[in-house]
Formats: sequence, structure tokens, C-alpha cells
Amino acid sequence: MNIHIYESEELLDEAAAGLIGGLVRLNPRAVLGLATGSTPVGIYRRLVRDYRAGLISFRDVTTFNLDEYVGLPADHPASYHTFMREHLFDHVDLPSDAAHLPNGAAADLDAECRRYEALIEAKGPIDLQILGIGSNGHIAFNEPAPELVPGVHVVELAESTRRANARFFDDPQDVPKHALTMGVGSILQARAILLVAKGKDKAEAIRRALKGPITTDCPASLLQLHPRVVCMLDQEAGELL
Ligand code: PGA
Repeated sequence: MNIHIYESEELLDEAAAGLIGGLVRLNPRAVLGLATGSTPVGIYRRLVRDYRAGLISFRDVTTFNLDEYVGLPADHPASYHTFMREHLFDHVDLPSDAAHLPNGAAADLDAECRRYEALIEAKGPIDLQILGIGSNGHIAFNEPAPELVPGVHVVELAESTRRANARFFDDPQDVPKHALTMGVGSILQARAILLVAKGKDKAEAIRRALKGPITTDCPASLLQLHPRVVCMLDQEAGELL
């Protein structure tokens, strides 16, 4: 694994945006796997900046997001659809029909999982998957468990994940209990993976993911099996390595 530790969040964001921008310049038809949460916000801000400066275009790019909350319509303020529009999609030339997320408001969730899985298979493989990590070692919403599911599926969120994400909701009770998520198999099928982590809260998860045993107790540890992972950390997230 290719591990980089940066002195500041700004340098990390710049390096990550540079990697993504470089990939899109090299392959304008790249398929990107996107993540939500606080971690990638500064990276998306720099991609928007580079688009506005004419340095990068998303005209022929396809994107797949990792996950979405069950029960939130796309236009809900805390949905990942809304997050992606606010932080990236509304500000670049990515065609709206090329930006894919699972539909958490689908009436038939199993059918929605199959639809999303088939779409990734048809348009993929994902060239570069951007990943954050939960402080419990989750990737996307694959929470620590005795067994992990390979494909797109419905998952019950860990209480720690609901608490961590409560900041995006008016009332902590409003955080959905379930989500649709790509499975660990979907993630590991990406050609390359960019794992990003920031802050002390992630240090132990990063140590377990990168240096610990490969175990479903730390879903991110499965990334050790992937031949092309770039891990970008700030000093706090990397302090236990
Ligand atoms: P965060 O979430 O970027 O908001 O810390 C990452 C994750 O839970 O995967």
C-alpha cells in the first residue's frame, strides 16, 4: 500500500484533487467512485476550482456514489444526493444522467440494490474509488460484523455511525437506521482506490486498516488485499502508523 502523510489538510486535499484531476485528464471517460462525509469536501472544492479554471472537465466522466440513506428522498437536505449536488455536481459539467447514486427512497429496496449493482457492472469497472473511513473501520456503510456482504445491499447502521452522522441532521433521532451501500466486493473491484482520512478520531481505524490483521471486524482492513490503494492521511490520522 502506498501511504502518504501530509503536514496539513490543505496539502492532502491538493494532492487528492491532483490525483483525481490527473486521472480525468489522462482518461476523460473515467468512471469515478465518489464518497460523502466531511473528509472529501475540500477535495471536491478543489475539483470545482480546477473546473472553473478550465483545467479539468467532467463532460465524459461517469460517477457512482458509495451509498445513500434509506427513506430519504433525493431532495432531502441530508440525503447524499443533496450533498453531492451542493459540493460537486451543481458546480461542474458532469452530465446529470452520468452521476449515479442508489435511490434510498425506492419502494422495493432489493430491486434497487440489483439495479445499482447491474449499472456499476454495465458502466464500470470504477477506475478510481474515493473512500473515507469510519472511526469503527467501516468503508461506505459496511459496518464491522462477523460477515460482510460483497454486493450492493441494505445495511443497518451502527449506533456509532448514526451518532457520528447526527451533525448533518436537525434532530439526531432523524438519522435513518438503514442505508443502501456498495458492498466490500463492489469496492474491491475498483481498479484503484484512494483512501483518505483526517483527524485523531480516525487514527486507530487507520492503524487497524493498514497494519492490523485482515478481519471483518475492521472492513477497511480488506483494502490490504487490493493491489492499487493510495492512502492519503493528515498527521493526526497517521499518528499511530
Ligand atoms: P467522514 O465519514 O468523512 O464524515 O468522517 C467517513 C465515513 O464514515 O466513511
